[in-house]
Amino acid sequence: MGKISGVKEWTASGWGLALAVVFVLLAARVSGAKPAAVRTQTSQAKPASAAPAAPAADKMKWWTEARFGMFIHWGLYALPARHEWVKRNERIKDEDYRKYFDHFNPDLYDPAAWARAAKNAGMKYFVVTTKHHEGFCLWDSKYMDYKATKTPYGKDLLKPLVKAMRDEGIKVGFYHSLLDWHHPDYPVDKYHPMAENAEFREKAKNRDVRKYAEYLHNQVRELLTEFGPIDCLFMDYSFPGPDGKGRADWQSEKLIKMIRELQPNIIVDDRLDLLDVPGGWDYRTPEQFMPRGWVTVDGKRVPWETCQTFSGSWGYHRDEATWKSVRQLIVMLAETVSKGGNLLLNVGPTGRGAFDDRALERLEGMGRWLKLHGRSIYGCTQAPPEFPKPANCLLTWNPEAKRLYVHVLEWPMGVLSLDGFAGRVEYAQLLSDASEVRFSEETDASGFMAGEREEKSRNAVILRLPVLKPAIEVPVIELYLK
Ligand code: GLC
Repeated sequence: MGKISGVKEWTASGWGLALAVVFVLLAARVSGAKPAAVRTQTSQAKPASAAPAAPAADKMKWWTEARFGMFIHWGLYALPARHEWVKRNERIKDEDYRKYFDHFNPDLYDPAAWARAAKNAGMKYFVVTTKHHEGFCLWDSKYMDYKATKTPYGKDLLKPLVKAMRDEGIKVGFYHSLLDWHHPDYPVDKYHPMAENAEFREKAKNRDVRKYAEYLHNQVRELLTEFGPIDCLFMDYSFPGPDGKGRADWQSEKLIKMIRELQPNIIVDDRLDLLDVPGGWDYRTPEQFMPRGWVTVDGKRVPWETCQTFSGSWGYHRDEATWKSVRQLIVMLAETVSKGGNLLLNVGPTGRGAFDDRALERLEGMGRWLKLHGRSIYGCTQAPPEFPKPANCLLTWNPEAKRLYVHVLEWPMGVLSLDGFAGRVEYAQLLSDASEVRFSEETDASGFMAGEREEKSRNAVILRLPVLKPAIEVPVIELYLK
């Protein structure tokens, strides 16, 4: 939906001196230094479980290595099954949306099966919508009755999911909507389902956003104190400006202080409208598009995660036919890592509480590939600049193992030329089966057709590939460097 998409507006806007200070702090964080100003203080009591805060760069380490997570969008909108924004898109009134609450009964809900699906897909963390814009809460909040426990299903959906994921060793993340199209104190704005309804607007004109902010803060506190250590938090989203909402409405600065106080090691997304505030965010979130390169802020690389869908909408959509193939999704993951980012890939479970076959097929396909190719993804990042990207390939790099991974997108005829790599490669193999890939560095113009190949001028390593592409969605060649 129309809103912050991140990178463009972020890099394009002309920012002042205050921001320069932030960038210095951020750079320090990325490089491992510990900026004092990033720490926040509040008078809130710490929960018993809170561990002392790790330095910012250490805090990001598990996340950066994980590279691949599962987003889960689940709410009442699974029933209409035509986009999680259906209430807004179709301008549905509360009383007409009520039927989804009254019929919400996910009888097939099996959080252990979701956790297994995530684990088998190779995902290392998950982020679930505790509440989306429609306002429905998955957990038994004491501040709201519009929640799972009051539906025909009658039980908390969040606690068992958190437990099941933790049992599989998957890190826990909460998505929480700043917008709320159900709460009686939430002032109508341009994205509200009743935005164009003059009568509704008139009746709602005295709504007090401070009351709503109190509710928002109370719920975030609940989420960060009643579910054990929470690894990441995805607050969504701000749209400051005319008829919009931003940091003053959410009281974002107070909110982020509380978040960091309650969960000192948590990492937080960038949608609280605090881009210019030290400690206001930990990573950028380009949504449903692939950045052209490593996401930067004032020329400095920052942690980033792209969130992507299988088919376009985030909530379960019965009729969407624009599903990406397994191959496309693998390329998306490899491309993300080749640019130093994470991929948060979304599943929208059905109203019965299951992942549908289209989703399962893709998750299984990715898992199959990752079982053999995890080495080219986990702990990997963008290749150093001295290794230029070969044509039709994506390169990832494991800085600890000092290995390069060539993801071959178009299988070439017989040879793959790695221009500029001469003198650097010690050994090469196909990652899927550790079969040797022979190579040569032809440094003079002798041999058959040598002149035409111009290998000398390209300083190339020439990989000798089998004519037939291995039966792998995206084959990877692992290069051990000298
Ligand atoms: C947007 C959309 C939303 C989705 C989210 C995921 O904010 O409003 O429906 O949850 O992006 O990043």
